[in-house]
Amino acid sequence: MPRAVRFDKYGDVDVLNVVEVDRPTPGSGQVLVRVKAAGINPGEASIRKGLLHERWPATFPSGEGSDMAGVVEEVGASVDAFSPGDEVLGWTDQRASHAELVLAPLDQLIRKPADVPWEVAGALFVAGVTAYAAVRAVGASTGDTVVVSGAAGGVGSLTVQLARLAGAAVIGLAGESNHQWLLEHGVVPVAYGDGVVGRIREVSDGHVDALIDTFGGGYVAMAIDELGVAPDRVDTIIDWDAAQKYGAKMEGSAAGASAEVLTELVALVDRGELEVPIARVYPLDQVRDAYRELERRHTRGKIVLVP
Ligand SMILES: NC(=O)c1ccc[n+]([C@@H]2O[C@H](COP(=O)([O-])OP(=O)(O)OC[C@H]3O[C@@H](n4cnc5c(N)ncnc54)[C@H](OP(=O)(O)O)[C@@H]3O)[C@@H](O)[C@H]2O)c1
Repeated sequence: MPRAVRFDKYGDVDVLNVVEVDRPTPGSGQVLVRVKAAGINPGEASIRKGLLHERWPATFPSGEGSDMAGVVEEVGASVDAFSPGDEVLGWTDQRASHAELVLAPLDQLIRKPADVPWEVAGALFVAGVTAYAAVRAVGASTGDTVVVSGAAGGVGSLTVQLARLAGAAVIGLAGESNHQWLLEHGVVPVAYGDGVVGRIREVSDGHVDALIDTFGGGYVAMAIDELGVAPDRVDTIIDWDAAQKYGAKMEGSAAGASAEVLTELVALVDRGELEVPIARVYPLDQVRDAYRELERRHTRGKIVLVP
């Protein structure tokens, strides 16, 4: 029987187990994928802890995971675009990709370019489409200076690169250990913490056009109150209260999720124009350790599970 991550109640990483489950059967328009790699995301940890119960309740036993890349195992009726053996990447909305086998609707899968590594393809969806939507939301373009908080995290590491590709000058807020990586990607690194506003003013000559917040904790207020950024050029993917208070944007994965966007992103990766840093790859059996590392909130790029 195939194995999958399950949890039966809200809680810490210890509620996560890898168990045997029934083999999923693809219905009409569905594709069964044998997972080669699946990224993990902080939102999944929040759901598992019950922190998003009001917004997105879990039903138990719950599976987990959206991102995935793998090999088509079986196709349902009315699926002509894929055949068994095809290499694909994509996503499921059913909290199910942290597993050996996952079902996905036909329109949530695209072909994996042969040279893109499995762990990169399997980590691209959530962080990639979120970064894409955030950069689009603030209208980053040539001549702009854009500040990105959490600049080396899963979403941030892709956001800074997409903003650079859009032509903007980018200031990335990150811990010291990520400054060299940011410099290598054309981003001006700035340490977060006390005095951050002064340091941003120093490297931007006092002019910032847009801010993308991937961390929360006051960056929206900082952008508008202290750096003078217009609210419609501030996007946060985490701080809903501040966005509502200030009229900032909240465009993230829901705004970016499409096969077209994913196709564009994986083409950038394939051409070597977008790097998806892989912090660490864990076997599926070590799912608890993978989330322990993620929940320390200092990941550079993505953590990936491999069944
Ligand atoms: N709305 C959406 O659609 C959406 C989609 C995806 C994610 N999210 C949310 O967005 C957030 C980021 O996701 P992610 O996958 O990028 O997370 P992640 O990979 O865990 O990112 C962690 C990053 O946060 C940075 N960080 C830690 N302390 C910081 C501080 N005080 N100030 C600034 N940065 C700090 C870390 O930087 P250093 O290592 O340099 O310290 C690290 O690079 C999560 O809360 C997630 O739930 C929302």
